[in-house]
Amino acid sequence: NMQQATKKRQGRLLVVANRLPVTISQDKNGQFDFKMASGGLVSALQSLSKTMEFQWFGWPGTEIHKNDQATIKDQLATRFHAVPIFLSQQTMNSYYSGFSNSVLWPLLHNMAFRAQFDGSWTEAYREVNEIFAEHILPLSEDGDLIWIHDYHLLLLPGILRDRLKAKKGVRIGFFLHTPFPTEDTFSVLPFREAICHGLLSSDLVGLHVREYVETFLDAAEKVLPDVRRSPSDLHYQERKLIVKEFPVGIDPDAFKTSLSSEETKREMMSLEQAFRGCKILLGVDRLDYIKGIPQKLRAFDRFLHDHPEWIGKLVLVQVAIPTRSDVSDYRAIRSEVEELVGSINGKHGTLNWTPIRYLYTSLKPEQLHALYALSDVCIVSSVRDGLNLVSFEYVACQTARKGVLVLSQYTGAAKLFSSAVLFNPWDLPRFSDAILTALEMPLKDRQQKHDSAIKAVETWTSMRWGMSFLDTLQSSSLED
Ligand code: G6P
Repeated sequence: NMQQATKKRQGRLLVVANRLPVTISQDKNGQFDFKMASGGLVSALQSLSKTMEFQWFGWPGTEIHKNDQATIKDQLATRFHAVPIFLSQQTMNSYYSGFSNSVLWPLLHNMAFRAQFDGSWTEAYREVNEIFAEHILPLSEDGDLIWIHDYHLLLLPGILRDRLKAKKGVRIGFFLHTPFPTEDTFSVLPFREAICHGLLSSDLVGLHVREYVETFLDAAEKVLPDVRRSPSDLHYQERKLIVKEFPVGIDPDAFKTSLSSEETKREMMSLEQAFRGCKILLGVDRLDYIKGIPQKLRAFDRFLHDHPEWIGKLVLVQVAIPTRSDVSDYRAIRSEVEELVGSINGKHGTLNWTPIRYLYTSLKPEQLHALYALSDVCIVSSVRDGLNLVSFEYVACQTARKGVLVLSQYTGAAKLFSSAVLFNPWDLPRFSDAILTALEMPLKDRQQKHDSAIKAVETWTSMRWGMSFLDTLQSSSLED
């Protein structure tokens, strides 16, 4: 069914996101190397690339010197159908580190207290959304589907809608990868009207789960006068649009393939040796304050205090992936985490056992998948998280071991994994109990939980996400 839909679809798809799905690096001799990323978006759209013409738009991930821009542009166009949006370091500081990551990110995660405001960031944000539009407009054609991603580009649908009037049948879809906050938090935002107007200028707005659709619609209705909502329809100004949930998911087959590869098997063997005789609790997170890493460490501290019989018999492997270190709150969370790791290891460790194995790096896929496969328990303790794909990836790698997913109730994923051990990361004693429950769970129960979780992972795949979003976008009403 899905495949039929894929075959039928033809035409052009313009995918727009802050980051291009290509990473560019430069060796000592100044030669550039290009690598296609393996993220959800790329795998979701892979099957479409046979029948649809693709065009990617985004920032190339680093500042590119003026002299190199033409070469890079050329390479990206011919090899990847990608159009780079070159932005100076200064612009990135204001638009990305500033408005996107120091204002929007905390607000969207319901943390108004973390938001910092600076007028020049707002300006830079508007400008960059304009710059994106200026790159897209000359390349867009009648009948194009334009799919815009995430909170860096909230104004873009509005700008494109205004200037694409002459083009026939162009449809604009927007997907927000974060949660949407409650209206009282959202209304803190200085130019909330422009942002709601931007989003509602799309033909389709997608969010991960129903709850975010509801909070978004509540906010939009309060912020803008001409939003009309009926049980089946949403109208903004003179247009009808769709706002709907589409959980992003992963490509579970890619994990199966990796787990049966020689390289991942080798990694598993070496990890098995390293952790012999110990149960493994695993945490894998970008080092972001939304991930609740301090809460996880404190709960582990409490667990070791309450259950000394586990001393020497388990280890918490916490992989903290470096991210957004230009933003002060991210440097602060790193210090807090590293201080906690040190103090817990100092307090509970023995001469031949260290309770927390902490890594500040991203792992090679084979190492990460091996770690997922070998861990007895995976702890996701986000205090707020759009969906959380680590939970999906862990489940996908647990077909042999039937390990237990301990999942914060504040993730989008908690709405899909009814079988996981759900908990509130702020409630330390219960968090510690959840760890014990997971460690002691009999195989029969683990099997049952795994069966139900893997069903969710195999249902809500990134492929389904991509296809159903585009199907809905294509069938959305047109004003022309
Ligand atoms: C979240 C956001 C993405 C972003 C990713 C990595 O998942 O929703 O838009 O790309 O984090 O963050 P970064 O700032 O490095 O792109």
